[in-house]
Amino acid sequence: MENYRIAVVAGDGVGPEVIAEAVKVLKAVAAADGRFSFTFTEYPWGCEYYLKTGEMMPADGMELLGKNDAILLGAVGYPGVPDHISLRGLLLEIRHGFDQYINLRPVKLLKGAPCPLKDAGPGDIDMTFIRENSEGEYAGSGSWLYRDQPNEVVIQDGVFSRKGCERVIRYAYELARKEKKTLTSVSKANALNYSMVFWDQIFREVGEDYPDVETHSLLVDAAAMFMVKDPKRFQIVVTSNLFGDILTDLGAAISGGMGLAAGANLNPEKRFPSMFEPIHGSAPDIAGKGIADPLASIWTAGQLFDFFGYEEWGGRVVRAIEALLESKECLTPDLGGTASTSECGDAFLRKLLG
Ligand code: NAI
Ligand code: MG
Repeated sequence: MENYRIAVVAGDGVGPEVIAEAVKVLKAVAAADGRFSFTFTEYPWGCEYYLKTGEMMPADGMELLGKNDAILLGAVGYPGVPDHISLRGLLLEIRHGFDQYINLRPVKLLKGAPCPLKDAGPGDIDMTFIRENSEGEYAGSGSWLYRDQPNEVVIQDGVFSRKGCERVIRYAYELARKEKKTLTSVSKANALNYSMVFWDQIFREVGEDYPDVETHSLLVDAAAMFMVKDPKRFQIVVTSNLFGDILTDLGAAISGGMGLAAGANLNPEKRFPSMFEPIHGSAPDIAGKGIADPLASIWTAGQLFDFFGYEEWGGRVVRAIEALLESKECLTPDLGGTASTSECGDAFLRKLLG
């Protein structure tokens, strides 16, 4: 029997509340399936740890995580610790250190999920975002000169390497080919005359190997507009780190809200562990109340099944979320219900296995 070692970094705020439900699902599916099992190791890192130790994770943190096959992450960030410290000290450290260069985010409006677009229904919003996850504007390159002086200057570099662009764009073409879907590249070459001209060039170059894939290119501002006005036009979407970050929050907003949005940070070659997380943050406004929506974290458990080759379970997880949404039973307050986080998780399991 295959055993997978899962590092659990539940993190801050609602992180531990929602991750408990994802762990519950992984355990239940392993028991029901019988071909594989999971060993969980919890790492109590995050902002509380930072306030005690001055670090978001210990010096050997990456080494410890590296012994695992995958990482399940809740959320990082809490009032009292500056966000750039909490984000860079844990989340970005893991994404960059483990070369998780693919950020895979489904933007799919399930039946029963709320949608603020008046003319859109399920089937109209069914996209997979592939966000470059290792460089771009989030590479951490730049400088801060003449601090606190009148001539103070800050420079934040956008880092776009040939290797970095080629691999994410190729991954997107492969997925589009496999799923027989169209591929849209989102960039901004009119204003970003180095990075995005280069991105567009690589998109065309790599595309020569995929004459069977229908492609589109959009400027990011137009892409934001079309996601609202005509979301049907998007299937597979590939874009840079910053644009992908912003557009996938818009994607979450049109496909059921933050409580439903999942994301996987993949090192496709499996040289390092990949990381699965809801895309929402620590939600300090509702933390500790037991009402956070666990479905985004549960969906990311479905992505974990996909990644390890159990796609039938990945599909079943999404269909069970849909069945739960349609039944309107046991949903958390963000989706109009009155259930607690764990009641929602239990109800999900009944739909999945019951
Ligand atoms: P947030 O995603 O934590 O919250 C935004 C809104 O969505 C809040 O009203 C919150 O209550 C709601 N929400 C989020 N998750 C929910 C869930 N599971 N169920 C129901 N409602 C939910 O974003 P915000 O407020 O901008 O950031 C809070 C903290 O989280 C900050 O410190 C930020 O840096 C951090 N953050 C961390 C992320 C991560 O770990 N991947 C991602 C985004 C933010
Ligand atoms: Mg974000």
